[in-house]
Amino acid sequence: MAKREEWSSRQGFILATIGSAVGLGNIWRFSYVTGENGGAAFLLAYLFFVAIVGLPIVIAELAIGRRGQGDATSAFISIAPRSGWAAPGLIGVAASFLVLTFYAVISGWALKYFAGAGTGVLWQAASADAGGYFQRFVANPGEPIIWQATVLAVTMLVVVGGVQRGIERLNRILMPALALIMAGLAVYSLLQAGSSKGVAFLFTPRWELLLRPDIYLAAMGQAFFSLGVGMAVFITYGSYLPKSFRLPTMAIMIIAGDILIAILAGLLIFPAVFAHGLDPKAGAELVFITLPQIFLAMPAGKIVGTIFFGLLVAAAVTSMVSLLEVPVAYLMHRFGLRRWPATVWTGAIAFLLGLPSAMSYGLLKNIKWRDHQILDNVDYVVSNFFLPTGAIMIALFVGWRWNRPDAIAQANLGDGITANLWIWSLRVGAPVLMAVVLARSFFA
Ligand code: PHE
Repeated sequence: MAKREEWSSRQGFILATIGSAVGLGNIWRFSYVTGENGGAAFLLAYLFFVAIVGLPIVIAELAIGRRGQGDATSAFISIAPRSGWAAPGLIGVAASFLVLTFYAVISGWALKYFAGAGTGVLWQAASADAGGYFQRFVANPGEPIIWQATVLAVTMLVVVGGVQRGIERLNRILMPALALIMAGLAVYSLLQAGSSKGVAFLFTPRWELLLRPDIYLAAMGQAFFSLGVGMAVFITYGSYLPKSFRLPTMAIMIIAGDILIAILAGLLIFPAVFAHGLDPKAGAELVFITLPQIFLAMPAGKIVGTIFFGLLVAAAVTSMVSLLEVPVAYLMHRFGLRRWPATVWTGAIAFLLGLPSAMSYGLLKNIKWRDHQILDNVDYVVSNFFLPTGAIMIALFVGWRWNRPDAIAQANLGDGITANLWIWSLRVGAPVLMAVVLARSFFA
């Protein structure tokens, strides 16, 4: 058997996992879900879930992956043979795949904006009517599909390239560049007149909102989506990890990077939303309507804007790479497919299943549930229900089924108080919390 691919360096691994974690979830999804759920109170709930539930589970997933040295399902089976515990791995593979279907659509929007920014079409159209430009684009029956297909094709090329050559090399350059430019833009946005309303929206909680159960559901879904928890990503990437890497340190760095980019996105977007008199509750289109307006109003904005949309596409693609890598690794390992057919098949089916999402603001715009279109609902169901369900099972698996000394050793946790905290948060804390939030939202 060929030696399993491995990450070439610690830094390469961290960047690649941050590349997977950081994506449209931190910019597009974070801003619109935060906007819809009232700002600062939601941000608090989100940070709570990231730190209290996300951290132990990220460590757990990495540990399962490294110990299992296979795909997302075989990892469970190798730890607990003949026990039917492959289920959370399967849920993860399914979730990654489903997210990929609509993620490609939004990534396609980002690519369209990048192309439009580069050629100048975007600036012309947006200076007349940024909202109208976006609406016309998504309502077009064919155009969103072409962009969706293009982004998927690019992602497939990277995934066919394999772990080191493709994924690692790309992230090494893109992630630091993205963080830098976003920090610059956030500072700019904060210096604008009227930015204080946006800052208050993001940082001054309206405490009464914390009484609403749906905030917790949304915050949990956002935390999981944005980290990529419950989607077998960390299990799959963890399987390429050498023994010498310490998991807790890496988990903390991944999480810190993810939070940082989300907060920068908030600092960049909300001041502008208020400065331009837009509604923070505008929904999925928030980023695509506000951002061009920010760029149009700033000096050298067209150049900065083009770079920004370029990096947004890059962040989206690095996330799509890992979304696609999960089912591909599964097919390769379980069914002996070679990398390229596995990639082509998965990509093609994801494209087809993504078509309703691509058409959800055009031909299919009248198909609604919860007053939202198809794409938002696929996202809602997968993020708020699939991911927590997978995460609960993973927590219980590591907490109760995996033998404790092995789990703790794999997670590099020593045997002190941290190890106990970790085990008990997986055994009881995290699953109970998640179950309560899920149950509340069913019976609310
Ligand atoms: N975390 C990514 C984002 O925030 C989405 C994603 C989830 C990517 C899982 C890969 C795996 O955009």
